[in-house]
Amino acid sequence: AIDIGALRKQTGMVTIDEGYVNTGAVQSSVTFLNGEEGVLRYRGYPIEDLAANCDFVEVAYLLIYGELPSEEELVKFRGKIRRHTMLHEDLKSFYDGFPRDAHPMAILSSVVSAMSTFYQDSLDPHDPEQVEVSIHRLLAKLPTIAAFSHKKSMGQPFIYPNNNASYCENFLQMMFSVPCEDYEVDKTFVEALNMLLIVHADHEQNCSTSTVRMVGSADSNIFASISAGICALWGPLHGGANEAVVNMLTQIQNDGGDVDKYVDMAKDKDNGFRLMGFGHRVYKNFDPRATLIKTSCDKLLEKLDIDDPLFEIAQKLEKVALEDEYFVKRKLYPNVDFYSGVIYRAMGIPVEMFTVLFAIGRLPGWIAHWREMQLSPTSRICRPRQVYQGSTKREFVPLDKR
Ligand code: ACO
Repeated sequence: AIDIGALRKQTGMVTIDEGYVNTGAVQSSVTFLNGEEGVLRYRGYPIEDLAANCDFVEVAYLLIYGELPSEEELVKFRGKIRRHTMLHEDLKSFYDGFPRDAHPMAILSSVVSAMSTFYQDSLDPHDPEQVEVSIHRLLAKLPTIAAFSHKKSMGQPFIYPNNNASYCENFLQMMFSVPCEDYEVDKTFVEALNMLLIVHADHEQNCSTSTVRMVGSADSNIFASISAGICALWGPLHGGANEAVVNMLTQIQNDGGDVDKYVDMAKDKDNGFRLMGFGHRVYKNFDPRATLIKTSCDKLLEKLDIDDPLFEIAQKLEKVALEDEYFVKRKLYPNVDFYSGVIYRAMGIPVEMFTVLFAIGRLPGWIAHWREMQLSPTSRICRPRQVYQGSTKREFVPLDKR
């Protein structure tokens, strides 16, 4: 075991590790990842087993509390989440102020941040009961906040949550039903969404999770911490890549489908173009999430008899890139974001909502890490050091002399 006490006393030497490529910032028991062998396990359970056998709420419980729930624990947990699915009517009125074309990730982070103004009774990170109720509120309300942002963009009335439906079914109902028409959620979509949320649920110290931990390390409340995580996830190099992938595939299609041209472009460092959905900081073999998603994507399109040209372009692109020396040498494989957008498209989810779905999936992971940090007796405020490269001491020059 690492002697944290002894390490803490070691100050004075600063190591530079830009992008934290080799810096372990925490000790964690949430997720195990072996990038060389393409292994991902939540609390010791392979994601393949969880995706095949669990529902998302069950996996959320596992990540947050460390154990798979018993039937009784699961029923109780679901009940606690269902109690909080509605949004406060005043919180709902925030949507009137956002422009109709506002990006839903901006709405998501703003409304989650605003939750700390409505739920002042649960902001203390050191009060376990307050933390518990905040966790239930977040898990319950994020799908509602997300679906309302879509309805806002469509100019349609909000659809209130249905607490008799499952987590995924309820979300799809809030997204797609309209008051004057019958709507039945397609079970195939529910299954696909459940799998997607599970494989996105945690990924150890990624950019957004580290952000949640960083903000939380200052004892900031959980709503503020999660809101910051949402902002980090939005970036195209992180969760925003799923939106960027579909935009890229559409561009390739509109440009005549010349996949080789885009592979060549990605190899040219001067133009700044990268193949979105390729490469990962940790996976240097394959991304096990991408494998699950591709298989599901294949099945879903076949079952629904959808002939999506973007799926064909994606498959071509993968084949060309995986045989190309540039990508092979750098171990650049399709990542979790490469095929997820094709599934979302098949479900009728608009492209700007893709990263929002990632956020709904990642929420239990963020919560698990925030909670693990708060409960750890050794955690302390995150405060990286630097190696200063600026000017040495300079004589002050008054304004009239500059
Ligand atoms: N297309 C072309 N070249 C790439 C790509 C890509 N998608 N990704 C990495 N490279 C190249 C880099 O130019 C670099 O080449 P060099 O060694 O000749 O300089 C080498 O591969 C290593 O890349 P880095 O940027 O140093 O790797 P890093 O670990 O910092 O970045 C990242 C990882 C951000 C995922 C990167 O691969 C990337 O930008 N991918 C595209 C965006 C993407 O799909 N993001 C989603 C990641 S998964 C997630 O967060 C959910």
